[in-house]
Amino acid sequence: MHRTLIEKNFCLGSKESHFKITIAEREMILIGGIIDEIDRLNKIVTKLLHFSRPSPPVFKPEDPMLILEKMLDLTTEKVRANGIEVKYAWSGRPCRTMVDREQIQQVFLNLLLNAVKAMPRGGRLDVEMRRTRGIFEAGLGPSLISGGDFDFQDWFVRVRFRDTGCGIGSEALPKVFDPFFTTDPRGTGLGLSIAHKLIEENKGAVYIESTPVKGTDVIVVLPAAEVS
Ligand SMILES: Nc1ncnc2c1ncn2[C@@H]1O[C@H](COP(=O)(O)OP(=O)(O)O)[C@@H](O)[C@H]1O
Ligand SMILES: [Mg+2]
Repeated sequence: MHRTLIEKNFCLGSKESHFKITIAEREMILIGGIIDEIDRLNKIVTKLLHFSRPSPPVFKPEDPMLILEKMLDLTTEKVRANGIEVKYAWSGRPCRTMVDREQIQQVFLNLLLNAVKAMPRGGRLDVEMRRTRGIFEAGLGPSLISGGDFDFQDWFVRVRFRDTGCGIGSEALPKVFDPFFTTDPRGTGLGLSIAHKLIEENKGAVYIESTPVKGTDVIVVLPAAEVS
């Protein structure tokens, strides 16, 4: 393909130099588009490979707040560029989670990136962590979209990501965990399906509540490490 483009330039350029420049510019744009597209496909393939072959989780007691802070560091630039105010805090006593740190990092990152993307003209992102006992206290009631196998008496850490972004319409909401479902022309539609899969691997659950225009709540429930 590269060669064809060069040859085309050569033929046209030899007759009319003005033409040559115009065509070359157009082709540069085309090449730019192709490179962007290759980049996007590359991302999809990499994500798919992770998706189909996630390494088995290594469970250790982890501080979910440290995991969150590390992922917030990675998103600082986008958060600042979009003019988003971020707050995060424990509600009540802090508690560690029994999870695979790298997998939960990926989950938090995917959720943060979605929230940032939903607020291109600014807004607020509020992450609240809370230790809860039993599935109902964790909020896993009738609105549960996806979940694991729970014991009523288990302790969990509930992490709620609340954004004031564009929200999700009622038609899209049941599909957001489907692989390749996206409303973003540049998106892969794999962020939430990967998050969902990793949360299940970590014996947790995730569900989403959203109101178009007002914003979205993503609630992640992870097993608590130890409760004293
Ligand atoms: N916080 C959010 N606010 C609004 N829409 C969201 C949010 N998170 C996810 N979505 C919707 O769910 C879709 C799927 O998300 P995801 O799987 O991460 O794929 P992608 O980000 O590549 O579109 C998004 O395209 C968007 O429509
Ligand atoms: Mg995403």
